[in-house]
Amino acid sequence: MSEFLRCDQTPQWPLLKAHFSAQGARLDLRQAFAEDTGRFEHFSQVAPHLFADLSKNLWDPTTEALLLDMGRSCGLEQHRDAMLHGEPINTTEGRAVLHPLLRRPPGQVLPGDLPGVAESLVDVHSTLDAMLSFADRMRADEGITDVVNIGIGGSDLGPHMAVLALDAYRAPGKRFHFVSNADGHELAGVLRLLRPQSTLFLVASKTFTTAETMTNARSCLDWFAQRGGTDVARHFVALTTQVDAAKALGITTTFGFWEWVGGRYSLWSSIGLPLAISIGAAGFRGLLAGGHAMDEHFRTAPLEVNLPVRLGVLDVWYRNFHGFTSRCVAPYHAGLRRWAAYLQQLEMESNGKRVATSGEALVYATSPVVWGEPGTNGQHAFFQMLHQGSDVLPLEIVAVRKPSHALAGHHGQVLANALAQAQALMVGKASDDGHRHFPGNRPSTFLLLESLTPESLGALIALQEHRVFVSGALWGIDSFDQWGVELGKVLARDLLQRLASGDAEGLDASTAGLLNRLRG
Ligand code: F6P
Repeated sequence: MSEFLRCDQTPQWPLLKAHFSAQGARLDLRQAFAEDTGRFEHFSQVAPHLFADLSKNLWDPTTEALLLDMGRSCGLEQHRDAMLHGEPINTTEGRAVLHPLLRRPPGQVLPGDLPGVAESLVDVHSTLDAMLSFADRMRADEGITDVVNIGIGGSDLGPHMAVLALDAYRAPGKRFHFVSNADGHELAGVLRLLRPQSTLFLVASKTFTTAETMTNARSCLDWFAQRGGTDVARHFVALTTQVDAAKALGITTTFGFWEWVGGRYSLWSSIGLPLAISIGAAGFRGLLAGGHAMDEHFRTAPLEVNLPVRLGVLDVWYRNFHGFTSRCVAPYHAGLRRWAAYLQQLEMESNGKRVATSGEALVYATSPVVWGEPGTNGQHAFFQMLHQGSDVLPLEIVAVRKPSHALAGHHGQVLANALAQAQALMVGKASDDGHRHFPGNRPSTFLLLESLTPESLGALIALQEHRVFVSGALWGIDSFDQWGVELGKVLARDLLQRLASGDAEGLDASTAGLLNRLRG
């Protein structure tokens, strides 16, 4: 494994600090467009299945060149290749990070692939073929009306977001439900809608130990048996790397995947089965093809026109030089209503770290808070703060040029609003009345898809995965572990017992006091 420089160890870091003090902090977008007629051309580009306009961001060509050079000094290209070729870049878990392999066409060997990668690709395709032929059988099976995904985190967010996004492709006559929360209110609400003989339960868990998922899976098995269901092999499927654990629970129909697929990157594996049932094998292959097209772009495009790289270095510029604490995401497509939730895990579980890969504490900030809602809804809720609040909050818009419905008079409004918000944030509106004054000069990125298809969604998701990789690589962190989620899980196990027994021995006074109240 090679050692890479962190961003603050590169010669460009002090240059960027100086550039920020001299110009960056004062950059005015309106003036920048007036002075540079080529600004839109320079900062916009075509990438697989989408067009991106980065010109309404608070940078200039000098900033961008310095950031890209900083990426080179950090060994970004080598780090990217190490991931794609199967090196164990998830160092704290000693694992390779090969989710792009799930999108590679059969037989495509890259020069530099580590031993074993070609064999893994063969396994990927034999599992994919089996999973997709099962998906098409279930899709065509009119006896199954309801598909229930039981999973949480990466075993829920990606498939849930994608099933909603690609609703236009959904198998007619099938309903999809996603149950993630251990809170029985969620599962009970879904079970009320179901009949055992027409329901397919998918128990999705990489580890097959996650408490929420195991609790929900057991309750579903009990519910199924209590209502006379007998054919567990037909009605329950496990999607997991731990096939033996699934069998121990009584679920014998299984599709596996591999430890080198991180949970939040697992949509492309058998965790994608709900999506494959919804949109069919051809659709799922389209999603993989779109993701692969973005992988190839990330792998081969020069950094200057490499969209994940440009977005990733911009993220570092905003976080570490401007000091912006969050990124608001606003998809202008109702199908993308779980987009923000999906990105929250992708970005914040990956890059919400305070130590370098070496374990040394970092002296700079890492992941921003990612948040948002579909754009037109957000406009009537929190966009006030984007336009006139005391903080500058960069916005990332996703718009889709062609709708997948035929209702007149809707989509033009959606597109006009997307455009208007980006314009208003930048141009502002002067007024002597402070309440009516819009300062403008507020940054936004505009990602535009021609239409929301499996291919374009695949490319859009892979774009986000890689941009998170880029900022994580510059920050010198392990973007592929998630130790921060462990402590709460351990304490919850302890407190579950204490809630039953009432034992508050050794607890801090607040936790003990609340425990007593909760026991009633
Ligand atoms: O608790 C965090 C986490 O480990 C995520 O990284 C993961 O996506 C989620 O839990 C679910 O894990 P599993 O798929 O193993 O049930």
